[in-house]
Amino acid sequence: MKKSIWTLLVASVLGLGACKESPLLSDSAIIPLPQEITNGSGSFNLTPETGIKLVGSGEHLTAIGEHLAGKLRPASGFDVPVSADAGQIVLELTGSEASESYEIQISEEEVKITSSGEAGLFYGVQTLLQLFPKEIVNPTVQSANWAIPTGSIKDEPTFGYRGSMLDVARHFISIEDVKYYIDQMAVYKFNYLHLHLTDDQGWRIEIKSWPKLTEIGGSTEVGGGEGGFYTQEQYKEIVAYAAERFITVVPEVDMPGHTNAVLASYGELNPGVNLPDGDLTTVTKAPLEYEMELKVPQAAELYTGIEVGWSTFSSKSELTYAFVDSVAREISAITPGPYFHIGGDESHVTEKSDYIYFVERVQDIVSKYGKTSIGWDEVATAKLLPGNVAQFWALEENAKLAKDQGNQILMSPAKKAYLDMQYDSTSRIGLHWAAYIELDSAYLWEPTEYAEGISKENILGVEAPLWTETVTNRADIDYLAFPRLTAIAEVAWTKKEGRSWENYSKRVAGHGKRWDIQGVGYYKSPKVTW
Ligand code: ACM
Repeated sequence: MKKSIWTLLVASVLGLGACKESPLLSDSAIIPLPQEITNGSGSFNLTPETGIKLVGSGEHLTAIGEHLAGKLRPASGFDVPVSADAGQIVLELTGSEASESYEIQISEEEVKITSSGEAGLFYGVQTLLQLFPKEIVNPTVQSANWAIPTGSIKDEPTFGYRGSMLDVARHFISIEDVKYYIDQMAVYKFNYLHLHLTDDQGWRIEIKSWPKLTEIGGSTEVGGGEGGFYTQEQYKEIVAYAAERFITVVPEVDMPGHTNAVLASYGELNPGVNLPDGDLTTVTKAPLEYEMELKVPQAAELYTGIEVGWSTFSSKSELTYAFVDSVAREISAITPGPYFHIGGDESHVTEKSDYIYFVERVQDIVSKYGKTSIGWDEVATAKLLPGNVAQFWALEENAKLAKDQGNQILMSPAKKAYLDMQYDSTSRIGLHWAAYIELDSAYLWEPTEYAEGISKENILGVEAPLWTETVTNRADIDYLAFPRLTAIAEVAWTKKEGRSWENYSKRVAGHGKRWDIQGVGYYKSPKVTW
């Protein structure tokens, strides 16, 4: 009798203690939600003595450890040394695979993150950072109880391609803002950054063999601003910055439509030019020589409006393919990732047969430079090369055409995944031709059920594009991308069975508090209790 009362007393004190001091691991505001969370009943504390211990060997292991330390040091004010010798936060690389899955074991004495791949370890680190109190994101020293709940997490992504796109063509986006966006993408475990580098209003990447592309084509943007472009060195800097965060850059050259910036730069590429077959290398190097012999159309005017579907390359001119060849060669040489995006959308003034011929020729060129083509869903009206990808944005029938050819589909339905759509009719910027997309709408869809006949095995992944017709600065990026980017992150990462709007809306409120500290100007959706 005495013993059982004693037992009861101890249990209730422990229980009370757990209730008061140790929130449950499963109540943490982690986005995207991990696939499995098991609760413990205590907490692990970051203290001035805590270090990070690296176990295993991998090219980027030290960088991953330093990345974690770099995020823990400013707000805690602790040294957080990184070494192979000792530490209560253990990062253990158990293999050298491309694995993105990871496990975290948290006891009162130790946190251990394990993965057989560096990407998985990096994602484990992102999850761990989200377990600490929100003050951890502060750039200056804070007094907080740096405790995280004990328990374990077992996690892996549902889709292998989790992307976001920045349209740097309609409005040029500075390298600093692209890096800022990459930092945010990394927090939410995205692994592909698609850069829409060219459009009617601007050409944003240096092509050494066609210098007028940036000289003329890069000189403006929507609204008539000064535009801009990345030199190849700057593009490499973006690629490297993304790679350090396990994000692969996918460059897009949109064609044969959306090409006015090219047509304004080089008159000879305008339709109507039919250069003779022959030494195209000479043509490529010195197109001006031909102006003496041929009636070359005038260059187009630069364009700063937002209409679409009115420009086209000439599909019949060999000079067009010499141009595409140069561009694909130069960009592929500075792009380590596997994909090259060929655009292909809204080519409304290209004859259908010309369009198909063009897409098939361009796929071959891209393939010659060792890259796999991605194109907007219209490209599936052509014969796709094996392995090439159709990015579904508008027409289910095109997604179906891709599937029927045995090709995979990247899911970016404009009604759900387009970050540039207004939230509602009062949104200060954004468009609404596809839909108004409130946060719950961006969250409540399932890629494997969205398009008739397109199931998991047909889907490469999910991507959230941010078109920039109405986006001119970082505040605009923040307002349209946050919080919706996190909704798409969870759609792409977490299995359907694990997702619920009710639960996500609570977790995203936790992220809002972090964004407040960091100065991210997110949209305070009325659907969330911030
Ligand atoms: C697109 O939105 N035109 C792909």
